Amino acid sequence: MADPGPASFSTRANALLRKNLTYQKRNLRSNLWIIMIPFMLCLFLVAIQVLFDTQVNNADENRCGCQCTVTSEAGKCEKESCGIEFSSPDQAFFCSIASPPRWPPLLQIPPPESRAVRTSFLSDIGLPDESCRRTGTCPVTILFTGNNRSVGTSLFDNLLTSSVTVNSSDLLQDLANNVLGTAREADFTNYLDPGIASNDPIYNIRSRCISNATLPFSFGQKPLEFQKELRCVQELNIWRNKSIEVNDVIFKGYQKGNPEGKANEIAAAYDLLNTDRNNFNVHIWYNSTYNDGSRNRPGTLVRVSRSVNLVSNAYLQFLQGPGTRMLFEYVKEMPKPETSLRLDIASLIGPLFFSWVILLLFPVILSSLVYEKQERLRIIMKMHGLGDGPYWMISYAYFLAISTFYVIILMVFGSVIGLNFFRLNDYSIQFTFYFLYVNLQISLCFLVSSVFSKVKTSTVSAYIYVFGSGLMGSFLLQFLIQDSSFPRGWIIVLELYPAFSLYRGLYEFSQFAFRGNLRGADGMKWKDFSDSAMDEIFCIIIVEWFVALVAAYYVDKISSSGKDLLFFLKNPFKKSSSMRRPSLQRQGSKVFVEMEKPDVNQEREKVEQLMLEPSTSHAIVCDNLKKVYPGRDGNPPKLAVRGLSLAVPSGECFGMLGPNGAGKTSFINMMTGLLKPTSGTGLVQGLDICSDMDRVYTSMGVCPQHDLLWETLTGREHLLFYGRLKNLKGSVLEQAVEESLKSVNLFHGGVADKLAGKYSGGMKRRLSVAISLIGSPKVVYMDEPSTGLDPASRKNLWTVIKRAKQNTAIILTTHSMEEAEFLCDRLGIFVDGGLQCIGNPKELKGRYGGSYVFTMTTSSEHEGNVEKLIQDVSPNAKKIYHIAGTQKFELPKEEVRISEVFQAVEKAKSNFTVFAWGLADTTLEDVFVKVARTGQAFNVFS
Ligand SMILES: *[C@@H]1O[C@H](CO)[C@@H](O)[C@H](O)[C@H]1NC(C)=O
Ligand SMILES: *[C@@H]1O[C@H](CO)[C@@H](O)[C@H](O)[C@H]1NC(C)=O
Ligand SMILES: *[C@@H]1O[C@H](CO)[C@@H](O)[C@H](O)[C@H]1NC(C)=O
Ligand SMILES: *[C@@H]1O[C@H](CO)[C@@H](O)[C@H](O)[C@H]1NC(C)=O
Repeated sequence: MADPGPASFSTRANALLRKNLTYQKRNLRSNLWIIMIPFMLCLFLVAIQVLFDTQVNNADENRCGCQCTVTSEAGKCEKESCGIEFSSPDQAFFCSIASPPRWPPLLQIPPPESRAVRTSFLSDIGLPDESCRRTGTCPVTILFTGNNRSVGTSLFDNLLTSSVTVNSSDLLQDLANNVLGTAREADFTNYLDPGIASNDPIYNIRSRCISNATLPFSFGQKPLEFQKELRCVQELNIWRNKSIEVNDVIFKGYQKGNPEGKANEIAAAYDLLNTDRNNFNVHIWYNSTYNDGSRNRPGTLVRVSRSVNLVSNAYLQFLQGPGTRMLFEYVKEMPKPETSLRLDIASLIGPLFFSWVILLLFPVILSSLVYEKQERLRIIMKMHGLGDGPYWMISYAYFLAISTFYVIILMVFGSVIGLNFFRLNDYSIQFTFYFLYVNLQISLCFLVSSVFSKVKTSTVSAYIYVFGSGLMGSFLLQFLIQDSSFPRGWIIVLELYPAFSLYRGLYEFSQFAFRGNLRGADGMKWKDFSDSAMDEIFCIIIVEWFVALVAAYYVDKISSSGKDLLFFLKNPFKKSSSMRRPSLQRQGSKVFVEMEKPDVNQEREKVEQLMLEPSTSHAIVCDNLKKVYPGRDGNPPKLAVRGLSLAVPSGECFGMLGPNGAGKTSFINMMTGLLKPTSGTGLVQGLDICSDMDRVYTSMGVCPQHDLLWETLTGREHLLFYGRLKNLKGSVLEQAVEESLKSVNLFHGGVADKLAGKYSGGMKRRLSVAISLIGSPKVVYMDEPSTGLDPASRKNLWTVIKRAKQNTAIILTTHSMEEAEFLCDRLGIFVDGGLQCIGNPKELKGRYGGSYVFTMTTSSEHEGNVEKLIQDVSPNAKKIYHIAGTQKFELPKEEVRISEVFQAVEKAKSNFTVFAWGLADTTLEDVFVKVARTGQAFNVFS
């Protein structure tokens, strides 16, 4: 098969994408659940709205009233009439109003307790003493200024009529001669003036109050008839020399404008400018601030018209004398059709639900990222050539696609079933908002995934975040937003918490939808963008998105290079490990000089030669590779690998034997890039493992000691994925997968299409081997490939490996001598971090196994006889094993003749009972035990 070369970015992207899609397809059930949640919540909201409509919006008291006008004899209603005359005052509001009521024009005046009085900061302008507040008789102050004080004064003397004539035949006209005021703010429609419809008194503003008596009146006609009383209040007008002085007084009267934090308000102020007998020019100050937190309420100006009329009337009298009047009798709304109450409760409670819906993607993405990390799949993918760049980009794009799809579904579904939250706000704003937020959310997942190592903890924490944040948003954040006394700056600080910025955006949508629905208008448009808090939310989200991306990238780089997260904070003067290193090296080299065997030395020389004149004949070259684990908690540093030199040509299978903890896995981890060597290096296909690991990965296959597989992918899908990463395509890929499955005996009986999670340990093992070999990598590392296999599968696997090694260099570790003997061209016995010997199995047996092993079992009282027998046959024999009558001896080959041994045993049998006996040539196992023992003994004493 021709070498397809390393896979391009798009090939790797394609591989990962297909794998992810299959993975999601397998998780169909939980995915469906997640998709169902927005649907169910939307339906739930619609249900609440329907219930609310029937119970509240369409309830009798919330629509125009009807009464039975013609009743049949049976007591049945034959004709029902509706309209304002059949309604209670509450219902009247909703009726069609053909002729809206006329309301006397009212002037907005401050309530008694905040009317301007003399204070430390406003002392010398003629305001009354503070004592009036106690009796509630403070006057209403009106300021005026202009270019000519005498004109101003004479004009303002006419401002208020001093006579009150009230004649019930035409109330409004009589009242127009008076100036009426209210402290109650106007509403956004004036079908019902709140100043009159409420219980607040109507003030009659006079230049002097003769008595405290109040005059009762009734306004309007049935059913909108209100009993009111007129309460007299005095007016005080004060001249200031300049308009800037007026501004000053007004500002100081504002609660936040003076040092004592006291409301000290005036009713209105006029600047007469250059007004004289020929000109009438006037500026009017009025207070448009309303206390209820909502902005832009129309209707504010209803109360301004009265102050315009006041000054115009005064000017007219200034010109024409007191007999001339310009009366302002009433204000009246346009006629209106019948309306109904339109409270959109679904929009009001929407933010809580929709913030849950969108936050719900967080645990989904997080657990998928943490799963790959927990199962170490991320690392094994990297080893098979999937670099960090493609991994992050593809994962990002993939999660973004899923999230975008999800929010689009939410918007479409919400609109289709008629939620105003979605229908009334501009779709492009909504989409931009959700899109930005899901980007932020994915970046956060990447960042947070580095903190977690277990799927369970990450999922639990993520769900707590989702539900907790939603609830906190609706019970804390929303409450604070609505509290206008809470500083806006702190709200922005709170919104830095990502879930709150989401909540705030949803809250703004809901408010706009609610108000839009109430007025029969649209919700948020781009022109409201800066008017709502959306501009700040967008800024926060975009900035956090970039910060999270950069932080996630940084954290990933650091954790994948094995450094401490805060490595740059470390004390640069405390170079503990590098200072200790020289002494270690010295000690190490002394050990080697003393103990190194000629074969190991020869290998070292070969490597030195290869390093000088690089050639590609040797696929793997390790040059004096060392790994020292720094000492912890007072323990000395541990030498895991002490200067390993090894060259493995292509087409060779090199077997690594050694007791547990000898450093084999550390060695493999260094060669596969999981660990950085402390010193020395390795070349794979001429590429340095310290600097060129990413390119090394494209021609490498790894079968790790523990199977790293996706539980929900099948064996075939695993092979397809890794095959694609190795740049196999089309029919070549299919054929390779097929062959691979057959070779590891996973093809028949549909095993290939079963989920890997359901495989037995042996099947997983075989799949791991198949994965490491797919795409004919140049270098393959196998860490105990055949553990846990039955003999038949093992034999099968061996043939696969044997076939694969033709143009591949394989390094494999094993504990099975049989396997080593069968598969490996050369063996190295690795003890305590160093090679003790190296050579092909026959050589090793010859070198270390110059003896036979004699075993004999007798009853224990005859042990002495056996020892004597051996002494006779071979004076230099060594007892190597002894337990309850069974003894094992090593007989040097040069002084033993097998026939003598047989004769001696025959003779012994006649003297005492021999239960069993045997004579064996050395096996590899004996070599191993011997080498391991001497190596360890040596290292202990050195
Ligand atoms: C102010 O107005 C009065 C009366 O209109 C006029 O007599 C007087 O000259 C004016 N004063 C100034 C400074 O213009
Ligand atoms: C009220 O109006 C009627 C008719 O316009 C008039 O006769 C009567 O004197 C008025 N009453 C007062 C107190 O002005
Ligand atoms: C206003 O101006 C007059 C004369 O122009 C002056 O006498 C008076 O002190 C000024 N008042 C204030 C409060 O400045
Ligand atoms: C305007 O009115 C609001 C309440 O209606 C009040 O809080 C505020 O202090 C007033 N502003 C001034 C300058 O008087």
